[in-house]
Amino acid sequence: MGEETITRPGSAVAVNKLSQAEFNTRFSTAWQSTQEEVNNRFKVGQKVEALSSSTTKDEYGLFYVGSITKISEDSSLDVLFEDGSTEENLSPFFVRPFGREVLYESGEVIVVDGHIARQGVARRARLLSFKSSPQLVQSAVMLDEDGAPCHRQIPFEQHQVLCLSLVMAKVDDASKRSRFLIIGSGGGTLPMAMHTVFPTLVDMDVVEISKDVVKASSQFFKVQVNDNLRIHTQDGARFLETSRPAAYDVLLLDAADPETPDCGDSEDGLEVPPPQFVEPAFLKGAVRRALTSDGICVYNVIAGRSKLVQIAHLFEEHFASVYVLGTDPNYFFWGFVKPKALDPDGIVEMIEAMEPLDTLCKHAMEIINSTEENIGDKTLLGWFTVEQFVLLCEDPTVMV
Ligand SMILES: C[S@@+](CC[C@H](N)C(=O)[O-])C[C@H]1O[C@@H](n2cnc3c(N)ncnc32)[C@H](O)[C@@H]1O
Repeated sequence: MGEETITRPGSAVAVNKLSQAEFNTRFSTAWQSTQEEVNNRFKVGQKVEALSSSTTKDEYGLFYVGSITKISEDSSLDVLFEDGSTEENLSPFFVRPFGREVLYESGEVIVVDGHIARQGVARRARLLSFKSSPQLVQSAVMLDEDGAPCHRQIPFEQHQVLCLSLVMAKVDDASKRSRFLIIGSGGGTLPMAMHTVFPTLVDMDVVEISKDVVKASSQFFKVQVNDNLRIHTQDGARFLETSRPAAYDVLLLDAADPETPDCGDSEDGLEVPPPQFVEPAFLKGAVRRALTSDGICVYNVIAGRSKLVQIAHLFEEHFASVYVLGTDPNYFFWGFVKPKALDPDGIVEMIEAMEPLDTLCKHAMEIINSTEENIGDKTLLGWFTVEQFVLLCEDPTVMV
């Protein structure tokens, strides 16, 4: 872990502003790895993340994904980055293996420190998964320079989408405090980001079925409860059934059962959420009863095409306005108790007016922004009315 911390402060931040020559001069003296250490640690062809001096990259102090093309006798390394740029004679001080480190394993949960890479840029992140399906990351939080969870960023689009409920519920209206129920807490990325951004305007109940997950989230994801953010270890369906009428302005369902198999090509397969949440009687009863008269309900769904249509019709039965935000492979069903007219341009405007959500939810916003283009390309990415969504789903030339 030593090499993780040394590059972060001060000097690394300015790296991209330096010329190649300055970069090498300034940093080549800063390391003293022996040839043997380097040979033990690195191989030609190995996937790594490394600092780049390239002035074409626009973010400072970040590690980029690439592979080693040469190890020289002076222990320096040549790296080819995923964007095609290269770095020669790089100090091993600024190169580290691309990989994951298991931090915690207990009960059904596994927590690893690894990376989230976008367009070749690797950022340190902490990931929570279930042992039964470790490849499926349930929650991710970015790590700051000191390796601590940072709740001012949301790495996954799916959680960014759910965070947009802050915009729809207009929580910046200080005349009222919005009450949220989040089912499925995981590593708490979403509730902690929402709480960090609007600590006094949002009041949250968060329900998580797994006590192992709750324990890991408080120990490793810096999830902290307080008067405005309560965590309940319980089945979310039961919690909702027993909550008082009109208790919530917004219900966000982000529950996934790790034992449910991948729905693959099955037209009516349902992977997420657990099936009790899409029972008609559950929506008609528990969900509608718990929502206020201008309440909002958002379901995160992964399902086959005909199941998606079925859920769309179910939402239509119980809400005045229904929209679907398609990401891949998740579809978010938005049900509004009161009629609400929302188009992609209007939503983007609303997000931009509610700083810092425009940066916090950047990728979700980009998806909404590209709706029209995506319809043209016959994909289901973007913000759709429920009628549009059903038509697109029923069109076999549209990719789901
Ligand atoms: C995708 S994760 C949630 C991620 C989380 N919203 C975040 O912001 O990081 C899904 C979680 O749902 C939980 N879950 C599954 N079934 C549930 C249920 N019936 N009630 C409450 N939580 C449930 C799982 O244990 C898992 O932690």
